[in-house]
Amino acid sequence: MAEFVPVCRLDEVPVGEVRQFKLDGREIALARVGDGECYAVGGRCTHLRAALGRGTLEGTTLTCPWHGSQFDVTSGKLQRWVQEPAWIRVMAGLIPAFLRRDLPSYEVRVEDGQVLVKAEG
Ligand code: FES
Repeated sequence: MAEFVPVCRLDEVPVGEVRQFKLDGREIALARVGDGECYAVGGRCTHLRAALGRGTLEGTTLTCPWHGSQFDVTSGKLQRWVQEPAWIRVMAGLIPAFLRRDLPSYEVRVEDGQVLVKAEG
């Protein structure tokens, strides 16, 4: 059974930002949304594996730093597939819809200023 694993201190992730961390050998993106709540999703974009912890966060929407795919950090759900540049959007449009995948999402708990993430997703 998976356990909650310490990932970072809460103050390492400012409100409104996202950071990349390792969790049991996997990469995760840890986002802290406007109300201070933390969410963890897979750290590699389902398009070409960009580090999502280097992306941008707007509300609960995480945007990939490479080609603009967007994911909801509360669920890992894909919101918008590849956006830029235009030629790569056209190429990505040829990828069957079933390959446009959501991110795994992980349970998060904050205890004594420490962020813990459940190592399954
Ligand atoms: S690698 Fe994320 S949209 Fe291309």
